[in-house]
Amino acid sequence: MRGGGFYDANSSGQRSAMDVFLPWLVDAVAEIPLPEDGSPIVLLDLGSSEGGNAIHAVRAIIEALRKRTKADVWTFFDDLPSNDFNQLFANLFPGSARALGGSGVYPAAIGGSLYERVAPTSSLHLATTFNALGWMSTLPAMRLPQFVSPMAPSPSASEKGVSVSEEEHAPFARQAREDMNRFYRARAAELRTGGKLLVQVFGRNEEYSTANGIVDGLNDVLLDMVRAGRIGAEAYEDFVFPVFYRSVEELLSPIAQGDASPEFRVDKAEARECEVPFNEEFARTGDRRAWAESYVGFIRAFSEPVVASRLPETEDRPELVAEVYGRMVDRFAADPDRYEFHYISLGALLTRL
Ligand SMILES: C[S@@+](CC[C@H](N)C(=O)[O-])C[C@H]1O[C@@H](n2cnc3c(N)ncnc32)[C@H](O)[C@@H]1O
Repeated sequence: MRGGGFYDANSSGQRSAMDVFLPWLVDAVAEIPLPEDGSPIVLLDLGSSEGGNAIHAVRAIIEALRKRTKADVWTFFDDLPSNDFNQLFANLFPGSARALGGSGVYPAAIGGSLYERVAPTSSLHLATTFNALGWMSTLPAMRLPQFVSPMAPSPSASEKGVSVSEEEHAPFARQAREDMNRFYRARAAELRTGGKLLVQVFGRNEEYSTANGIVDGLNDVLLDMVRAGRIGAEAYEDFVFPVFYRSVEELLSPIAQGDASPEFRVDKAEARECEVPFNEEFARTGDRRAWAESYVGFIRAFSEPVVASRLPETEDRPELVAEVYGRMVDRFAADPDRYEFHYISLGALLTRL
């Protein structure tokens, strides 16, 4: 993610996608077995980024908990070690106040991959993750010379010749499944019996994928830049955006048919399309440029470090990165139908057996 507060300022879409499943968290809190020996309740959010949205979710959990108990709460926020944890702590203690106010709530950060163990055995009462699981742990050795993503281009937005074959898609789908497996196994070890796991992530339903618009825009702009001689064809052909957009079935496949089946019960799972503030504003005002700028700000907040790392290591790389997003704004503003955006939010609430 781009740090320094940029992600927080451009992630109202992710906030909407998590909000549709926050009521499930309140249900989860009502059911978790509480400690009876004075030990703390332990919460963990995985993939918390700069924390604006993660703190919002944890606040809802603590409000629900306080209706049941005054017990101390230890609340951990995990992300990759490269995350902007300074901004996370700035959000936790704004102007030296406490964002998770009240007494008895103790926030702390963990650096580590959510595909591995990050907490002690049987230590957690409740674990959550929002908008993070699509990021693949590693990329299969498969080039995608005719698209920038392992997900299919959307029929309305793809350029001629742009495609991903079944054969190209398959190793990414296998990696995404393996990632889910590793995620559930790690959480199974960390959660206490009766503990709850709320998994939310962007994905796809029968009609739309959250990928549409985002990867189509990136693809079209990189092709434009090849044609304009700004980057070489190889940079485009080697580019793979490392995000997989799952269906609900793919989210749950390790539970339904695999390694994690004895450890979890699925309480509920659903794909919901959620309202996105920049789409709502566009519907209200019809202002294409403002829509394109907000939409691209949202894409830039989570994609910029990846885009920068995939462009050639030349002196003008920062200008090339800025050009990618500038061109995207122009393309989106010129043809909103071609890049329309649907945020499909997947949610699953599970119990550790
Ligand atoms: C789009 S942000 C989501 C932030 C926040 N949860 C929200 O919903 O707004 C995705 C976050 O997942 C983190 N992430 C990606 N892969 C991860 C991994 N393997 N382990 C932990 N965090 C990861 C990224 O660093 C990033 O901060």
